[in-house]
Amino acid sequence: QLQPVLLSGGSGTRLWPLSREAYPKQFLPLAGEETMLQDTWRRAAPLASAAPIVVANEEHRFLAAEQLRLVGVEHARIVLEPVGRNTAPAIAAAALQAQADGGDPLLLVLPSDHVVRDPDGFRAAVQAATPAAEAGALVTFGIVPTAAETGFGYIQADAGEGVRNVLRFVEKPDAATAQGYLDAGGYYWNSGMFLFRASRYLAELERFRPDILAAVRQAFDGAQRDGDFIRLERDAFAASPSDSIDYAVMEKTADAKVLPVDIGWNDVGSWSALWDVSEQDGEGNARHGDVIAVDSRNSYAYSRRLVALVGVDDLVVVETDDAVLVARKDRVQQVKDVVAQLKAGQ
Ligand code: GDD
Ligand code: MG
Repeated sequence: QLQPVLLSGGSGTRLWPLSREAYPKQFLPLAGEETMLQDTWRRAAPLASAAPIVVANEEHRFLAAEQLRLVGVEHARIVLEPVGRNTAPAIAAAALQAQADGGDPLLLVLPSDHVVRDPDGFRAAVQAATPAAEAGALVTFGIVPTAAETGFGYIQADAGEGVRNVLRFVEKPDAATAQGYLDAGGYYWNSGMFLFRASRYLAELERFRPDILAAVRQAFDGAQRDGDFIRLERDAFAASPSDSIDYAVMEKTADAKVLPVDIGWNDVGSWSALWDVSEQDGEGNARHGDVIAVDSRNSYAYSRRLVALVGVDDLVVVETDDAVLVARKDRVQQVKDVVAQLKAGQ
């Protein structure tokens, strides 16, 4: 039994102005014809023993339900969070739902905002990781790091082949530490995709963060069911501490394992990452929509109206109905500061 769990609660602020609170990136067709949520399900569907369990914010319930319906999903369980409490509680709610559905399936936990260029390779990796997960390990999929990124978890893996023991899991180290890991070798980025039994995750959460599990259990027991929607009880869920699976469980558990993969994975966390995975012309420009580029290189433009680039390099231009972003491509991490300023001004 393999139960996909689609995490769909992020807000993707670094992809402003396309990704908005009311319409975050996982619900947008950023890297193909279909939305990232739909792509994620398509990638996992051939392995699945049941329709997905989706965990999303209450506010996005119709987006999630409609997008899944459009790719033929019936009987999804859409677990709705009244407020975001990060991934540790979200996955706990999914695990409780999976057990309520019957049995103790393997959960394939997938962020719904990643690009995977090699879906066959992805599925082969999940199959390769299955025996270890069935034996009780909490398996993550490791990516060969290419830079000292500070937005990822770092995993030091035991030597060997295939599924390895995790010697150390460090979530979001500072730049110097990350560089040290790169220099040392033997480290992988955590892809944020996990495979484990529902009961194993719940047991480890109970062990390391009983406060989170208690709050989520109460919210789940008090949930209102309404068609495919499972509305977690507001006060109990809001009382859960906010923490990610990475800090709450993966850094601490003795049963973590990692399977290094080469599947064309990209987190698409920023405009430069999106430029990376987009189709580019001979000049290195990625153009979505009506864009003319004259004597311009290595730029990313997304627009509905006609946008022209003349004599510019390494630029990001994103035009939507109510906002325009112009940024240097090496500064796009700071787009989140724009969102922070907007929020502060509200
Ligand atoms: N349902 C729900 N509720 N989903 C959430 C919530 C929440 O409160 N918070 C985040 N998510 C979803 C996001 O939509 C995303 O798909 C996934 O969970 C991971 O959350 P991010 O916020 O994107 O995490 P991150 O990118 O900072 O770090 C994680 O991913 C990296 C790889 O992309 C960690 O697992 C890192 O270790 C990892 O390297
Ligand atoms: Mg992310």
